[in-house]
Amino acid sequence: MRIIRAKDYDKLSKKAASIIASQVILNPESVLGLATGSTPIGTYRELVRMYNEGIISFKDIITFNLDEYYGLDKGDKQSYSYFMYDKLFNYIDISKNNINIPNGKTDDIQRECHGYENKIKKSGGIDLQLLGIGKNGHIGFNEPDLKFEALTHLVKLDKETIDSNSRFFSSIEEVPKMAISMGIKTIMHSKKIILLASGEEKGKVIYEMIYGKITPKLPASVLQLHPDVTVIVDKEAGYML
Ligand code: GLP
Repeated sequence: MRIIRAKDYDKLSKKAASIIASQVILNPESVLGLATGSTPIGTYRELVRMYNEGIISFKDIITFNLDEYYGLDKGDKQSYSYFMYDKLFNYIDISKNNINIPNGKTDDIQRECHGYENKIKKSGGIDLQLLGIGKNGHIGFNEPDLKFEALTHLVKLDKETIDSNSRFFSSIEEVPKMAISMGIKTIMHSKKIILLASGEEKGKVIYEMIYGKITPKLPASVLQLHPDVTVIVDKEAGYML
């Protein structure tokens, strides 16, 4: 694992966006895996800036998002689909047909999950996957478990995740209890991975992810086995390193 320490959140966002931008410049038809949560917001802001300055174009880029809440329509303001349009897609030249996000409103979970996996495969696989990390070590919505769940699947969210994500909802009751998420194998098949962490509350999990035992109880620890992972932390998230 390559560890990059950024001075603050702004620098972290700029470094992450620069790595994504170089991927897009080197291969304008790249397949990008994208993440939600508060951590990548600054990265998306930087990518929009670079697009506006004519440094990068997303015209032929394909994207796959990691996850989506089960039961939320894509137009729902709390959905990850809404988030992605609001933070990135509405401001760049990506073709709508190239945007892939699991359908949280599917009436056939099996078909949705298989279909998502097949689409990733057909597109040639993910060239660069952006990740955040949950305080409990989740990546995407792969929660701590007794085994690694391989492929895109329906997940029951942990109480800790529901609590933590309730800050985006008006009440905790509104937070969906389930989600559709890429699996660990799906993520591990990406050619390159960047994981971002900001803030002191992520410090312990980042330390355990890098130096601890590889275990499904801390899903992100599996990244130790991936050949090309870059972890970008700000000062606070890197305090134990
Ligand atoms: C959510 C997402 C994850 C994300 C995590 C951390 O649960 N499913 O992909 O990494 O939150 O979010 P934040 O960046 O807001 O701490």
